[in-house]
Amino acid sequence: MKLHKTILSALILSAGTAMNAQNAHQMVVQTNKIGAEIQPTMYGLFFEDINYGADGGLYAEMVKNRSFEFPQNFMGWATFGNVKLMDDGPFERNPHYARLSDPGHAHKRTGIENEGFFGIAMKKDADYRFTVWARGENQKISVEIIDNDAMGETQVLTSKDITINSKEWKQYEVIFKAPVTEPKAHLRIFLASPGTVDLEHVSLFPVDTWKGRKNGLRKDLVEALRDIKPGVFRFPGGCIVEGTDLETRYNWKNTVGPVENRPLNENRWHYTFPHRFFPDYFQSYGLGFYEFFLLSEEIGAEALPVLSCGLACQFQNDDPEAHVKVCDLDSYIQDALDLIEFANGDVNTKWGKLRAEMGHPEPFNLKFIGIGNEQWGPEYPEHLKPFVEAIRKAYPDINIIGSSGPNSEGEQFDYLWPEMAKLKVDLVDEHFYRPESWFLAEGMRYDKYDRKGPKVFAGEYACHGRGKKWNHFNAALLEAAFMTNIERNADIVHMATYAPLFAHVEGWQWRPDMIWFDNLKSVRTCSYYVQQLYSHNKGTNVVPLTMDKKPVGGQEGQDGLFASAVWDNDTKEYIVKVINTSDKAQPVTLDFKGLKKKNKLTNGKCITFHSDNLDADNTVDNPNVVLPKESKVSIEGTVFNTEIGAKTFAIYKFTKE
Ligand code: AHR
Repeated sequence: MKLHKTILSALILSAGTAMNAQNAHQMVVQTNKIGAEIQPTMYGLFFEDINYGADGGLYAEMVKNRSFEFPQNFMGWATFGNVKLMDDGPFERNPHYARLSDPGHAHKRTGIENEGFFGIAMKKDADYRFTVWARGENQKISVEIIDNDAMGETQVLTSKDITINSKEWKQYEVIFKAPVTEPKAHLRIFLASPGTVDLEHVSLFPVDTWKGRKNGLRKDLVEALRDIKPGVFRFPGGCIVEGTDLETRYNWKNTVGPVENRPLNENRWHYTFPHRFFPDYFQSYGLGFYEFFLLSEEIGAEALPVLSCGLACQFQNDDPEAHVKVCDLDSYIQDALDLIEFANGDVNTKWGKLRAEMGHPEPFNLKFIGIGNEQWGPEYPEHLKPFVEAIRKAYPDINIIGSSGPNSEGEQFDYLWPEMAKLKVDLVDEHFYRPESWFLAEGMRYDKYDRKGPKVFAGEYACHGRGKKWNHFNAALLEAAFMTNIERNADIVHMATYAPLFAHVEGWQWRPDMIWFDNLKSVRTCSYYVQQLYSHNKGTNVVPLTMDKKPVGGQEGQDGLFASAVWDNDTKEYIVKVINTSDKAQPVTLDFKGLKKKNKLTNGKCITFHSDNLDADNTVDNPNVVLPKESKVSIEGTVFNTEIGAKTFAIYKFTKE
């Protein structure tokens, strides 16, 4: 009886498939027409310190305002007893420190308490490294990790005393083992002797950072980046490159050298959105350009730094003072040249020497540099021109990236693209945070681009659902659909980076984002998996694919289907991506044309990414709601008949024997 049923259902299935095959959209993959090379820079990452992406996020420091340099110097700290702010500390560019003195009575206490970034999170049995620069003679401080228990009483979770035994500034260190897991601990330091102690650069890091580095990065977050296998890593933003005014632009030279002496900068995202106002959001620059280069290298991505072109954010500031005159751009241009020297220069050069002193005598082999972020109007090409001339002269091999402004089309975009072509930049950065309708309509976007001009860097993009500005499966599905167009046009689209990358669940300003985290956990969103699926299946060359004899990109009559195909010369696989954005399952035939008789397609695999609930997403508490699933499939000869479910991203892979 059981066998009977199985045979019956197999018959029904094959009849169904045969019937469906007749109505199926015919996708033809021209296996013998190996096309454009897919650049190694595909698919990449865009990093910006937005949503507490760096301080409070990727940068694993747990003490907020560790150098007492916030404009309100004790922001993030509570003080008790006799605490004074001093300003003649050992680090020239961070001169403030805290002086803890005897409170004057045996029962009184002097101390400071730090709240961390939305608390200080500790994992049971993990080790944490506390360091502080201090001075004092025969003094003692007591360092405590504290928590409020359910009854609201402060509990000391763990504590250690440190003897401060030098009237010269010296760094002290102790390691704490967390006795419990606690997401919202605080760090408290008491003066534990009669006298005075000076404290500066108070720091607490997990010992288990990425590669175990001091001044390190959060391991789970770097692992999420590495697991994408990114081709390029763009940093440090975004709008923070530009600054609300020129003084607060991102100045890479302030982000290298000893961390204690990297001056604080404001973070414009602290006030950009009044409804998401974070007055305690600053850039410590603990994660600076050296760390960005190192990270790029370690996750296998080409580094792509972006620098100010001498125009502050044009959205935020139209004051002429916010724009350097073209004739006064020298120091900005020098910053760009010096950056290339920092990355690639010999150890005997000024900036190459600094790189070596920081621990990397080998060059970072920088190949790309971006000048300007979302700039617009004639001022931008005027500013960019002298940069291009100077960089070309000094470093002809460096690829220069210009911008097409903040919009994916329209007046500024149409003006800037030809201007970029005139300046002969190598790539043009395009940004598109757009609704579902845009992603559905743009499936043929790059097919129409001029093949002779600069290449495309799709530098910031994400589907922003109408009325649903959060991560959800449908947005990721439409990103996948759009990306078939990027893939098919690999001859001109050389880089693509979803944006933004990170967001703290308690500290976001902008959403959706690719990876969310709290202080203990992180989660890979649906959009993350789409990026990862593309990156892991990017192949080495485009292969022409048509559906019903036409290129396929969700056009009229194509039933919401999108598709592209690649050949992977390393694994000898054909990889076809099909996205069904419609709400019905659709029969599809993949016909691998042009194979020689002796060739066979074997080892078939199908990876699907689907959710019945279009609003579903993965969250820090429930990270596995929507995940890609892989199964084996078999092909008879060179034609594969299948049915792609409604609202599904499917990848089909076959090895050529
Ligand atoms: O990704 C967030 C912001 O969007 C970037 O800083 C900016 O370039 C764009 O407007």
